[in-house]
Amino acid sequence: EQINKGNYEHYMQKEIHEQPESVTTTMRGRLIRGGSCKAKSVLLGGLKDHLKTIRRSRRIVFVGCGTSYNAALASRPILEELSDVPVTMEVASDLLDRQGPIYREDTAVFVSQSGETADTLNALEYASENGALCVGITNTVGSAIARHTHCGVHINAGAEIGVASTKAYTSQIVVMAMLALAIGGDTISNRARREAIIDGLCDLPNKVREVLKLDAEMKELAKLLIAEQSLLVFGRGYNYATALEGALKVKEVALMHSEGILAGEMKHGPLALVDENLPYCFTYSKQQSVIQQLHARKGRLIVMCSKGDAASVCPGDSYRVIEVPIVEDCLQPVINIVPLQLLAYHLTVLRGYNVDQPRNLAKSVTTQ
Ligand code: AGP
Repeated sequence: EQINKGNYEHYMQKEIHEQPESVTTTMRGRLIRGGSCKAKSVLLGGLKDHLKTIRRSRRIVFVGCGTSYNAALASRPILEELSDVPVTMEVASDLLDRQGPIYREDTAVFVSQSGETADTLNALEYASENGALCVGITNTVGSAIARHTHCGVHINAGAEIGVASTKAYTSQIVVMAMLALAIGGDTISNRARREAIIDGLCDLPNKVREVLKLDAEMKELAKLLIAEQSLLVFGRGYNYATALEGALKVKEVALMHSEGILAGEMKHGPLALVDENLPYCFTYSKQQSVIQQLHARKGRLIVMCSKGDAASVCPGDSYRVIEVPIVEDCLQPVINIVPLQLLAYHLTVLRGYNVDQPRNLAKSVTTQ
């Protein structure tokens, strides 16, 4: 059932729209809701014998490629916040090129939808030889990465056929939020935050359903952008990953140049690109001053902000505003990527390109 398109024209479209269900499956049986004492916790069976070691690690090192790397980047802040362990990021090929330092006291977390990506697999072999505890987060039971890691978590997102990863990305973030909860201690000082995240996770499928209602709006936006050469996507904090991932979607399927840019870096270079012609997309979080700078230079702005914030974020009508449901900050990347997935999808269809099999790309990159 999962591998036919149902009523959809393309797998990518189907996979975008099934995210309320895929994130539900990812969480099934893993969120323990409390009784009268209101204790709430997370159970990740594949990690239970290793949690102590992970908590005592010198570092947690995330390793991945493409979308899987972006999902790890989106999850880094919550992992740092709840675990108190430093978290570093590695693109798998770059770790190998540098033969970067990996220690016995490290926990290396390998994130891969397919579980077969050659660069990630080779980085796993390297980290394992260096004595790190290796954890796999994959969507494919029995995959090479699932088999060669010491322990792991399956994201249970269901088969993903479109070359552009969509539902795996959101399920990976959900798993890593649960990982942060599982590693982090349940102390009095962080209990309210933990409970808010768990409540947020429980309500996430509804919020994803809500954000998917932007489909028609994103199609209209795609019509406006159809002939553009380039789209810049800015974000910071939790939304930096959204910017990278949104831009990756636009370039890989719509074959339009797109860059994800850390908003804090804008005045250190990218601002020079701003003129009245180039379109920019902003995922709004503490970026009012950046938006004003862009507006002053007559940038063609598309601003993504929380529902109800449009008037304060963007006074006047010279902006195009996409309002998304608000969720706990660490889960906001799950919501914010959806409009950009829809935009990339509609741009691709309107531009007449192959949605599910973009030129030159393979679903699983098994060669170096
Ligand atoms: C995502 O849309 C891409 N097709 C690509 O970046 C992909 O995420 C990357 O090749 C890693 O694949 P993996 O998750 O299967 O390891």
